[in-house]
Amino acid sequence: MSEERYLTFALGKGRLASKTMDLLEQIGITCEEMKDKTSRKLIFVNEELKLRFFLAKGPDVPTYVEYGAADIGVVGRDTILEENRNVYEVLDLGFGKCRMCVCGPQEAGELLMHHERIRVASKYPHIAREYFYNKKHQTVDIIKLNGSVELGPLVELSDVIVDIVETGGTLRENGLEVLEEICPLSARMIVNPVSMQMETERIKNLIYKMRNQLSPVS
Ligand code: PRP
Repeated sequence: MSEERYLTFALGKGRLASKTMDLLEQIGITCEEMKDKTSRKLIFVNEELKLRFFLAKGPDVPTYVEYGAADIGVVGRDTILEENRNVYEVLDLGFGKCRMCVCGPQEAGELLMHHERIRVASKYPHIAREYFYNKKHQTVDIIKLNGSVELGPLVELSDVIVDIVETGGTLRENGLEVLEEICPLSARMIVNPVSMQMETERIKNLIYKMRNQLSPVS
C-alpha cells in the first residue's frame, strides 16, 4: 500500500518552518518531537501518519525536493526563482510576504530609465539577470553578495541592488528606496514531480486541506 511509504518534508529553517508546522497542526498533522527546541535531531518523524520532517537552509530546500530526498518542500518564492530547480510549485502559503525589488539612492532611478550599463549587487544573481537581461533588455554587471546587500550603493560597490523588501525599514534607515518592483514573494509549497505521480492522492489531499485552511470555502 502506498500509505506505508513515508512522505518527507524539507522545511526552510526559521520562521517559515514554524509557521508551516502551525498550519499543519491546524489540519491535524503534528510532530511532537519537533517541538523540543533542545533536540539536536535532524529528522523528525510522525510514525502514525508516516510523515518525516527535516529542516534545511532555504536555498537547499529546492535541491532536496528536485532529487527526491524530500517529496515536499516549503520555501520562499525568492529561493524558488533563484534556484530554478525542477519542482512543482503547488501552493501559496500566504505568509512570509515581501517583494523583490531594485533599490538604490533616488538618483539611480535615472540610470534605470536610460538603460545604462550599471552595477547591480545582489544575493539573487539569477533573479537580477533574468530581470535586467530578459525583461528590461538592459546590459548590467551583476555582483554577487551574501548579505547586507544595502551596503552596495552606500560604499559605491554598485549603483543599485536587487533585494527583498519587507517593511522597507532597512532601506529607509540607509537613505535608499525602491526604484522598481520585480515581483511579490511569499512562502510556497513545492513538490517533487515523481512524488506527485506516485503519491498523487496523499499529496493532493494535503494540498486541498492546506488550501482550505488558508482560505476556507464557504
Ligand atoms: C533581508 C533583506 C533586506 C531586509 C529587508 O535581509 O535582504 O536586507 O531583510 O527587510 P525590511 O524591508 O523589513 O527592512 P536579512 O535580514 O535576511 O539579512 P541579510 O541582509 O544578511 O540578507
